Amino acid sequence: MDSEHKPGPSEFWDEFYAERQRVWSGKPNGALVREVGAVAPGRAIDLGCGEGADAIWLAERGWTVTGVDVSAVALGRAAEHAEEAGVADRITWLARDLAEWEPEEAYDLVTASFLHSPVEFPRERVLLAATRAVAPGGLLFVVGHTAFPPWSRHPHDEHMPSAEELAASLGLRSDLWAIETSTSEGREATGPEGQKAVLTDAILKARRSPGD
Ligand SMILES: C[S@@+](CC[C@H](N)C(=O)[O-])C[C@H]1O[C@@H](n2cnc3c(N)ncnc32)[C@H](O)[C@@H]1O
Repeated sequence: MDSEHKPGPSEFWDEFYAERQRVWSGKPNGALVREVGAVAPGRAIDLGCGEGADAIWLAERGWTVTGVDVSAVALGRAAEHAEEAGVADRITWLARDLAEWEPEEAYDLVTASFLHSPVEFPRERVLLAATRAVAPGGLLFVVGHTAFPPWSRHPHDEHMPSAEELAASLGLRSDLWAIETSTSEGREATGPEGQKAVLTDAILKARRSPGD
């Protein structure tokens, strides 16, 4: 066995998903539901869409959605769930490594929920590319951990930005972007083995100027 072998992102995440039949709850992220539920539908892209719950929820609300993830296993599952939900025709699934690919079109909503990875991942650069993909007048929505869950495989010493720090690092200029939500929020979460913890999320919602 090669003890030096470090899996790349697709191998890591495919193995992660293949370990269980379903990893996430199948429910959309609560912060997305709250922040975007009243927004008129258009074109959306979900970066790191995993098993597709957010993308499917958006499609059910009339959005035309592109779901991007590095794991083909997760996307296969997402596509099955979209079929079951009757919204498969509204969603395009793309297997892409966001470290090497960025959206080529503009979207009314660019969303990224818990887009973190214990495998080498340039999150800030990926989220900067996300800002470029927001159409004039469109929304950027990011929800992330401010500290990893106790059960996660991430290195626990990594600094996780607050929403304010993220907005600053993305250089969201006040003449081009309106910050609609920038907050931290606690929630009760359940780990894959039923472990319980209170986690704090950083939630950023910013609207790009229509005239930009
Ligand atoms: C913590 S999960 C979040 C999944 C989903 N957004 C959710 O909220 O349930 C992180 C997701 O990012 C994806 N991911 C990690 N690194 C990636 C990369 N380099 N390119 C694309 N997706 C990546 C993983 O496969 C995984 O589905």
